[in-house]
Amino acid sequence: MYYSDEIIEEVRIKNDIVDVVSGYVRLQKKGNSYFGLCPFHNEKSPSFSVSRQKQMYYCFGCGAGGNVFTFLMEYENFTFQEALKTLADRAGVTLPEAEYSKEARERADMKATLLHINKLAAKYYYAQLRQPQGAAGLKYLKDRQLGDDMLRAFGLGYSNKYSDDLYRYLKGKGYKDDMLAKAGLISYDERQGVYDKFWNRVMFPIMDVNNRVVGFGGRVMGDAKPKYLNSPETPIFDKSRNLYGLNRARRSKKTYFLLCEGYMDVIALHQAGFDNAVASLGTALTPGHASLIKRYVNEVYLTYDSDDAGTRAALRALPILKDAGITAKIIRMEPFKDPDEFIKNLGAEAFEERILKARNGFLYSLEVLRRNYDMNSPEGKTDFMKEAATRLAGFTEEIERNNYIEAVAKEYRVGYEELKKLVVRMAVQTGMAAPARRPKSGKSKEKGKEDGILKSQKILLTWLIEDEGIFNQISKYIVPEDFSDGIFRTVAALLYEQYEAGEVNPAKIMNHFTDEEEHREVAGLFHTKIRELSTPAEREKALKETVVRVKNNSIEEAGRNWNAADLEGMQRLMKAKSDLQNLRKLHISVN
Ligand code: GTP
Ligand code: MN
Repeated sequence: MYYSDEIIEEVRIKNDIVDVVSGYVRLQKKGNSYFGLCPFHNEKSPSFSVSRQKQMYYCFGCGAGGNVFTFLMEYENFTFQEALKTLADRAGVTLPEAEYSKEARERADMKATLLHINKLAAKYYYAQLRQPQGAAGLKYLKDRQLGDDMLRAFGLGYSNKYSDDLYRYLKGKGYKDDMLAKAGLISYDERQGVYDKFWNRVMFPIMDVNNRVVGFGGRVMGDAKPKYLNSPETPIFDKSRNLYGLNRARRSKKTYFLLCEGYMDVIALHQAGFDNAVASLGTALTPGHASLIKRYVNEVYLTYDSDDAGTRAALRALPILKDAGITAKIIRMEPFKDPDEFIKNLGAEAFEERILKARNGFLYSLEVLRRNYDMNSPEGKTDFMKEAATRLAGFTEEIERNNYIEAVAKEYRVGYEELKKLVVRMAVQTGMAAPARRPKSGKSKEKGKEDGILKSQKILLTWLIEDEGIFNQISKYIVPEDFSDGIFRTVAALLYEQYEAGEVNPAKIMNHFTDEEEHREVAGLFHTKIRELSTPAEREKALKETVVRVKNNSIEEAGRNWNAADLEGMQRLMKAKSDLQNLRKLHISVN
């Protein structure tokens, strides 16, 4: 941490969250809270709430939440330091320079410089496209049927035939070679010296969600190789966390994204009115992309190339999206190669029809699998059904599994009950027939259990914040040490301190976490979705179960770590176990 707790808290207090958020979101007062349309996902009725009393925000729709710093970090894609600086300026608080560590300032300065260089380069390329020397580039883009509005909206440009003009231009602006190299815009070799990375290509600036240029893709105007040249990863450009077109798609009113492969696909789709198209740009879809998508939508339509590579890429993307909690459907482009060519040939309406006809991701993956079997022979069909059943066994949720069994039974004309039996048999058989996979599934079960306990701890923390009456009832039984080591325990300890001091202030607790990932995780701890429980009795039962679960895990954990020579530890453990018995009988009342 580069700033003292005091100064961070001062900045927070002087920036009322309702005032700050009002600058971005239209809020209306309802009871004790303010409500508006969530800026972090698409919605039609407001589920985004801001509490002046708690100085926190929370979206009941997408689960986004935090304090005033979190809001700016999420909305503006700021680091904690950037959010702090902005809010300090806003409130007229002078941040003490000395506390900013040298490394931290250098890094922040470097990122700002790289962003600035990229912006200048984008403007330069943009201007070149409209100069006589850019005629070939402009002709190329016009031949690909891009309208002026799209060229402007996506900031397309041209890197001309001189191989060092951008370099000289940026040098003229005072930038040093090492920064230009860090920005990925120049290369160096002993023979040629310094030269531009991009020349004689049409340029696609890659923007982050806040419209800041973080890199470029450059396309040759003919058949030369490589077809596209892309910026390398830099301190401001992480390919696994950036989606082309997201800066525009995030503003779309649609509740799903169209996920495609290339720059041209995204632009062609936007031009045809599909303003929700994004692309992962030649890199395979990563969990980072998926969680980025999940901030905005819960559903994705994959519209990958129709060749084998595109099909394989789509099949690989499915489980990644599923893991992030995103449902995926597949749009086929046949007989065309990609969305760009499809729309050129058949138009937007035909594409809309393909969207309506999109295939469910799992059923599509079976369709692809089926091509490997001779479905006209009994053996072929049996083998296929066995493989399908094995995959069906992978749905751990019973209702979901049964729904899929039903769909598959219908599609491949087999009896529902028979298929269900086969699924069970295959589940057992693959478990026994493949001992090598056992440790893996054992491990994932362990992990499932651990996630469950962390979830309980999260719920308990949320509960402790939501309902101040609970602390006194449970603090006898649950102490901060019962929470898992790390963030959970730190947060619990801070919260307990606040309770004991008689001042509960979760927004202040968040100040302690200035690392982006930690900050987001803590924001999540305070806003864990607690199942909608209608009656107080239900809520009490759920809370008690949660408390018992957290305590029980803590005792088990202590038991595992207990060493036989530690008699005191033994006594503590015995006491904790008997407390747990009392706890099971405890009556907790909930608001
Ligand atoms: P067009 O031929 O211009 O229509 O390209 P496309 O958008 O249809 O591209 P394609 O399907 O061939 O590739 C999809 C994406 O992969 C592109 O948008 C690029 O981001 C990336 N890509 C394609 N070719 C290359 C290459 O040669 N090198 C690198 N690094 N990336 C490439
Ligand atoms: Mn294409």
